[in-house]
Amino acid sequence: MVDSVKVVSHYGEKDFLERLDAALAAAGLRDGALPPEALAPLDQFHTRGLAATEELATAVGLDASSKVLDIGSGLGGPSRYLASKYGCRVQGIDLSPAFVAAARHLARRSGMADRVSYDCANALDLPYEAESFDVAWTQHVAMNIADRDTLYREAARVLKKGGRLALYDVVTGNGEPLHFPVPWSREPATSFLMAPDAMRASLEGAGFRILDWTDRTEAARAWFDERRRAAAAGAAAAAAATAAAPSPLGLHLAMGPDFAVMAGNLGRNIAEGRAAVLQVVAERPR
Ligand SMILES: C[S@@+](CC[C@H](N)C(=O)[O-])C[C@H]1O[C@@H](n2cnc3c(N)ncnc32)[C@H](O)[C@@H]1O
Repeated sequence: MVDSVKVVSHYGEKDFLERLDAALAAAGLRDGALPPEALAPLDQFHTRGLAATEELATAVGLDASSKVLDIGSGLGGPSRYLASKYGCRVQGIDLSPAFVAAARHLARRSGMADRVSYDCANALDLPYEAESFDVAWTQHVAMNIADRDTLYREAARVLKKGGRLALYDVVTGNGEPLHFPVPWSREPATSFLMAPDAMRASLEGAGFRILDWTDRTEAARAWFDERRRAAAAGAAAAAAATAAAPSPLGLHLAMGPDFAVMAGNLGRNIAEGRAAVLQVVAERPR
């Protein structure tokens, strides 16, 4: 069982939309277009940000006719990227009402509300007809979900025959416990990392055939190293009063001031081999 209340309270506070608008204004984006690269530090809520989204999109293969379901769509950065890059239509669903409201708002502000839409729903009970989508997409969501068999069965149910599941998730590493808090959970009670073999068995049990299984752990490790170096350089420049003010647009806005600690712990968990990162593409056979 997912403890939905705990997961919802982890992601996003009730006044998030107001704070988002204030941060957009502080970043000089009160009116007019929202450049995706300016939003990426905020709305690509997963390890390696936009680069990971680009890689997964290339791996799954999309075109303008693709109907995509983004399961756990968060603030909508990946869905807006897919719709604008490939011209496809993307339906997002997310458990967090605050994130759904923010994703809708950013879609309107980006002039993309005709190509992306968002529902507030649980990934374990998708409010869509069977065989509705060409691609089911999910990044860094399954870590909050214990019942993976239901998650993957639901994804398979809403996919057309021959449709593909694109997945990018943190999995267990060497079996040592994680350092908490991490970006998806402040405590072990809402963190459900799975071992890669068990995840593969769960996917296959839901009827999927694995097409691509790529370990992205090394790239994640390098990305966290680079972030640490950049943060240290920024802190040194700030101490010497030569740095520009940090961007108001970042995941601290959604997750609170302890987000830096959460992200740091994920980097540490990966560096110590406690967690790994997987990219998977699987097909619902015809
Ligand atoms: C780390 S964020 C990732 C957001 C987005 N996929 C991205 O990569 O930018 C995890 C998201 O999963 C959502 N989530 C967690 N459990 C869920 C569930 N059972 N059903 C739907 N969404 C869920 C959370 O509300 C949150 O928005």
